[in-house]
Amino acid sequence: MQQYPLRIAGKKMRLADMNDLGKDGVSCTVCHQILAKGLGTEASFTANFQIGAGNLLFGPHKDPFAMPMLHHTGFEPREAKHILDSALCGSCHTVITQPPGSTPEKPIRFVEQAPFLEWIASSYPRTGKTCQSCHMPQLQDADGRPAAQYIAHMPPGRPFPPTRARMPFGVHEFIGGNAIIPEMMARDNPQQEDLLRTTAKRATAQLERALKLGVSTRQENEFLFVDVEITNLTGHKLPTGFPSRRLWIRLELTGPQGARLFESGGWDPASGELRAGETPQPHYRLIEKSSQVQIFESHALDMQGKITHSLLNSASHGKDNRILPLGFDAQRLPAAGLVTAGIEPVGVEIGDTFRPGSSRTVYRIPLPALTKGCRIQVEALYQTIKPTDRPSSFPLQQDLARPVVVARVERVL
Ligand code: HEC
Ligand code: HEC
Ligand code: HEC
Repeated sequence: MQQYPLRIAGKKMRLADMNDLGKDGVSCTVCHQILAKGLGTEASFTANFQIGAGNLLFGPHKDPFAMPMLHHTGFEPREAKHILDSALCGSCHTVITQPPGSTPEKPIRFVEQAPFLEWIASSYPRTGKTCQSCHMPQLQDADGRPAAQYIAHMPPGRPFPPTRARMPFGVHEFIGGNAIIPEMMARDNPQQEDLLRTTAKRATAQLERALKLGVSTRQENEFLFVDVEITNLTGHKLPTGFPSRRLWIRLELTGPQGARLFESGGWDPASGELRAGETPQPHYRLIEKSSQVQIFESHALDMQGKITHSLLNSASHGKDNRILPLGFDAQRLPAAGLVTAGIEPVGVEIGDTFRPGSSRTVYRIPLPALTKGCRIQVEALYQTIKPTDRPSSFPLQQDLARPVVVARVERVL
């Protein structure tokens, strides 16, 4: 918000000069003033949307009763369908950076966050499922039917006489998978504690809607094989967005008396770190040892090809095995007039076990002497900030450093 007038004047903003407007984040009048012009094209990415000089606020409903709002705020509400388009979200939710060393002659583009590009590559655009469908759920009545809502009221509380309740009405939840930041804020803001905690709970519920966990077991040649399949139910990669997110599989085999016989993906409750250590793990088709952990994540490399945790120095991906959305095909990007580089998986080939829409991991564990009564427990765990991405100057309380158990399946042999 602070940057916009400067941008019109052709000036740049320094982070050190940030004022309250800059700190406020994304307000109503940012999203609702964005023009349709250029949306969905390269030119609009990294928040390069355009705002006109007309003081128009766009919304999805027909014939808004404009006079009171125009009179009191100077903004005119106007119907415009681009507000319902994923490309509106895609302007800000496609973050492409250039590391130091990138030059106009040899530009280096690093695709830091790309839910919109991942969505374009998926089958969702053709089925009409937009960002808004999942992140701005329609208001419903107690029976789960679409409900109507008045958009504006006069100061004493009655609706303006000529207006009608509108439908469908998109609830402005904008929930992703980040439950820990709203929870941290709740602890520091007693006055808004309840609201912030509601947001944190919604994020956990959103994560539970993000995937399906399937587990099957078979015994063959002295080995127990466990197939773990994770199906991505989101409209983009899982996890998506900010690069510090990760999802991993914990698999535990216990004996009839509960003794642990094998574990992959165990973690330390005090730090949220993996017991196998926080060293980089490749993508696995087959896991045979406790030291091997299937982690769905991206790692960035700097210009020298070394792993970096600095967003600004990131130049390429060293690993990106985040689970692909349904129908994923990177070739849909050039077909939509966009550059392909940057969203293909890295460190894993698309094939029979890593398919558009799901990923399957096979575990091969020596059969215990007595299998009857043994128990297999599999969990999908989501962590908002992986420990290696957390500066020591940013301490987290123990419970916030822990992963969220998104799904759990148990089988008795
Ligand atoms: C991140 C972008 C974004 C922000 C921020 C935002 N809106 Fe919206 N708004 C939308 C989109 C997209 C729709 C259309 C959603 C739909 O109908 O499914 C919408 C719809 C609306 C509507 C029409 C009712 C409906 O949902 O159909 C009103 C009124 C509205 N917004 C008011 C506000 C107000 C007031 C704020 C600030 C408190 C705000 N918006 C902040 C994106 C945004
Ligand atoms: C089919 C439902 C669905 C659709 C369609 C969808 N999302 Fe999501 N989105 C989710 C779920 C579930 C999560 C939580 C899991 C995760 O973080 O991947 C999520 C997470 C996110 C996050 C949070 C990432 C973070 O930083 O933690 C962002 C941002 C996001 N989505 C943006 C978008 C945008 C932009 C679009 C449209 C281009 C979109 N989503 C389409 C379901 C959906
Ligand atoms: C003007 C830029 C802008 C637009 C347009 C925009 N967003 Fe965002 N969005 C942001 C920013 C900034 C954040 C906060 C990111 C953070 O905290 O790291 C955010 C956060 C989110 C999150 C929460 C991510 C999390 O950490 O859990 C979701 C979900 C989301 N946006 C969805 C949408 C959808 C859907 C639309 C389109 C209707 C949209 N956004 C349009 C800038 C925007």
